[in-house]
Amino acid sequence: MDVVIEVLSHRHHRETFDCGYELLDNYLKHYATQDIKRRLNRVFVAVDSNSSGRLCAYYGLCAGTVDASSLPQEMSKRLPKYPVPVVLLSRLAVDREYQGQGLGTIMLVDALRRIIHASDVLAVYAVVVDAIDVRAADFYKQFGYIPLPSNPLKLFIPVDSIRQLVE
Ligand SMILES: CC(C)(COP(=O)(O)OP(=O)(O)OC[C@H]1O[C@@H](n2cnc3c(N)ncnc32)[C@H](O)[C@@H]1OP(=O)(O)O)[C@@H](O)C(=O)NCCC(=O)NCCS
Repeated sequence: MDVVIEVLSHRHHRETFDCGYELLDNYLKHYATQDIKRRLNRVFVAVDSNSSGRLCAYYGLCAGTVDASSLPQEMSKRLPKYPVPVVLLSRLAVDREYQGQGLGTIMLVDALRRIIHASDVLAVYAVVVDAIDVRAADFYKQFGYIPLPSNPLKLFIPVDSIRQLVE
């Protein structure tokens, strides 16, 4: 597969994007641009170079925090009581026609590389994802993401661990 990953802009055609989850399709089609303008999210898209620039996947990144007390005890005991800085990786989605060909993995690794880069100038303890359902949570778990004890659909991975994953 020959894809280029770039920042979402007005040049990208999103009308036909279909990942099988209307919520995720609608975000890309109707809300992503607004969120980017308001500095609430950064959205990256994969474009198929062999199919006249068809948009085949996307994900969003924004800053956030989690309470240390929501993390597993072996981590929280080494952290302060106030919220710790994280990056929220939101709404990773691959168009149905492109699923099962490694693109989800390519997007995830691309996101993690950008986060490592950002963490050189801005402290990031972990990456947090909100999985849309149990299957999506399973997708993240295979890369080492750990569910929060209080919410199995919210998973995190410490930045120290993602360095190994992308290298
Ligand atoms: C989940 C999703 C992003 C995966 O993308 P993809 O391009 O199909 O995944 P890949 O081809 O990179 O698959 C990588 C591995 O994950 C596994 N996998 C793919 N989708 C999975 C899922 N939903 N649950 C568990 N494992 C999954 C694959 O079997 C593969 O494992 P292998 O390397 O051992 O064969 C994609 O299926 C999708 O967009 N689904 C709908 C939206 C969604 O669930 N988003 C998740 C975050 S909310």
